[in-house]
Amino acid sequence: MLKDIEKVYYSVETLQDIVADLGKRISEDYKDKNLLLVSVLKGSVVFMADLMRAITIPCEIDFMCVSSYKDGTTSSGAVKIIKDLDINLEGKDVLIVEDILDSGRTLSYLKSILMTRNPRSFKICTLLDKPERRAVPDLFADYSGAEVPDEFVVGYGLDYAEKYRNLPYIGVLKWEVYSE
Ligand code: IMP
Ligand code: MG
Repeated sequence: MLKDIEKVYYSVETLQDIVADLGKRISEDYKDKNLLLVSVLKGSVVFMADLMRAITIPCEIDFMCVSSYKDGTTSSGAVKIIKDLDINLEGKDVLIVEDILDSGRTLSYLKSILMTRNPRSFKICTLLDKPERRAVPDLFADYSGAEVPDEFVVGYGLDYAEKYRNLPYIGVLKWEVYSE
């Protein structure tokens, strides 16, 4: 797996610092609230596991699975619910936990569905943000770990054709990998 990586963008240590900082801010901001963390599968699963342990206030968690990307690196445009939430959102302060905010189409769609379920509040926490790629202009992250340029990254949950999610750091693949 290592031989496929061109360069490391965020090391294990850097990711730990980013997540610790986000956890601290969220714990402050939500201390008198009804925090429900909603992880968007599968990409955010590693981030979610670390972020929830960096949060020091009571919270609930739930998972949702939507498909926005098929195999490869380009958006299919279509977003479909594969697995819905179990928890009723009424009165909850929902914080979406996402791996990367790219075009924003996935979260824009998710937001429109979840808002009809009457959460008390709705905010977005993304580990990575690619602002240059945004296609939905009014969609932004309330919490963002780091900005990345318009490059396809893998690791720490993020995949290329379902692989590389288990890398503990975030990096860029060698071009040969895409042409294989
Ligand atoms: P959006 O709907 O275009 O914002 O797409 C968001 C989803 O696309 C993310 O949750 C990822 O699954 C996927 N994605 C976007 N950029 C990357 C990347 O650089 N690496 C891996 N997955 C990505
Ligand atoms: Mg993906």
